[in-house]
Amino acid sequence: MDQDYIRIFDTTLRDGEQTPGVSLTPEEKMEIALQLDKLGVDVIEAGFPSASKGEQKAVKEIARAGLKAHVCALARALRSDIDLALQSDVKYIHTFISTSEVQMKYALNMTPEQVIEAVIDSVQYIKDHGVICEFSPMDATRTDIGFLKKVCRAAEEAGADYINIPDTVGVMSPKSMANLIRELKATLKVPLSVHCHNDFGLAVANSLAAVEAGATQVHVTVNGLGERAGNASLEEVVMCLHLLYNKRTGVNTKLIYETSRLVSRLTGVPIQPNKAIVGENAFAHESGIHTKGVVVKPITFEPFNPEIVGRQRKLVAGKHAGRHGIRATLEEAGIYPTEEQLKEIVERVKEIGDKGKTVTDADLLAIARVVIGRTREEEIVRLNDLVVTTGLKFTPTASVKLIIDGKEYAAAETGVGPVDAAIKAIQKIISNLADVRLTEYRLEALTGGSDAVAEVIIKVEDKDGNIVSARGAREDIVMASVEAMISGINKILSKRLKATQ
Ligand code: KIV
Ligand code: ZN
Repeated sequence: MDQDYIRIFDTTLRDGEQTPGVSLTPEEKMEIALQLDKLGVDVIEAGFPSASKGEQKAVKEIARAGLKAHVCALARALRSDIDLALQSDVKYIHTFISTSEVQMKYALNMTPEQVIEAVIDSVQYIKDHGVICEFSPMDATRTDIGFLKKVCRAAEEAGADYINIPDTVGVMSPKSMANLIRELKATLKVPLSVHCHNDFGLAVANSLAAVEAGATQVHVTVNGLGERAGNASLEEVVMCLHLLYNKRTGVNTKLIYETSRLVSRLTGVPIQPNKAIVGENAFAHESGIHTKGVVVKPITFEPFNPEIVGRQRKLVAGKHAGRHGIRATLEEAGIYPTEEQLKEIVERVKEIGDKGKTVTDADLLAIARVVIGRTREEEIVRLNDLVVTTGLKFTPTASVKLIIDGKEYAAAETGVGPVDAAIKAIQKIISNLADVRLTEYRLEALTGGSDAVAEVIIKVEDKDGNIVSARGAREDIVMASVEAMISGINKILSKRLKATQ
């Protein structure tokens, strides 16, 4: 057997679905199963058919989908559970029973002898149906080692194809896990697998220690979903195996990020920003030394190229941002500002940074688009001042001062909100120059949080049918809207001026 190939047994659709608050429809389960298959996992544990009718349906549909991966169903070591798994048309059954004293006594109410009998009967029953059988002694890591060996040997003799060692409540350390696997390996011939929970944040480390000690299969979930603190995360285990442990898996690592996003979207469980491999910040570099370093040579501050997991490097600008980093980010996006434009972009970024905020790539590009776009158009109308008042007891009001041809014009208006009031005030001032109507308004918060940089994209039309789109990007929605409106007006006026020349 190839000891360097580690089988990836994915239990996102079973243990992952046991994440508190997560419940997937059969359609959602199918979408995830198809993605896992594309990703290249070896086994997909599709569900626990005895849990519900919906679960049976989902497992059956996945089992019939013609996937490359083995489709597996979970069953207690009970014939009735195994029958339901068999009726789901799977060719792989994962059967389990508690073996620790505490669980046998309080969760099962069975004696050790009864447990051994149930193991033998279930494994033989599964094998009699010509199906692959994986057996798990649940709570193995808190089970008396003598009894654990006895149970595992019984399962092996009954015909189990794999024995999986669950660290059900996540109490192992890498060292104790390696010792346990070594000890079991010395008494068993079947391939060993591990299933680690993350109660102490050691699920990945314990899984890797088990592999070092001879386990050839690891149970994982996408984004580390699972009961309580979750299971070992697929993305971390796979990347560690490939890049730190010199092992191989069937996983196409380039699809890791899109798989993680899909699972996060369908389960509704967000990914923490500093999560390894798939977190928002995993390949984000702050400005300064790091930014400059990775721009020149990525390996300076990166463990591996983000493209390996289907991601891209992100340079985050802030008050420490240098022209160098900002220019590099913009050039990577195909934006080449002049020195003058770059100066204004850097100033805007620092202004936002001074308020304690970082500026993401998306924010930066929005700011650059506005600065560069604005300097390309003629500045016929310029904002000189803006005051808005709003509140529970006030009608939103805006007073605007614009400079047109060197002269200041002022107007005040009310509206349904401060943005509406400000736009109306602008329209009032320029009504003599151009009758400009707002036909489309889109607001995008580029980074999360109430202090996000807001990008406003609008379309405006004058009475002659000239239509232009324009944008504004500021931390303040009203300011971003005003900036976009004035930019739109300037574009329309420039167009009209050119038409008369
Ligand atoms: O954590 C666990 O013990 C399990 C079993 C069903 C294998 O999920
Ligand atoms: Zn589990």
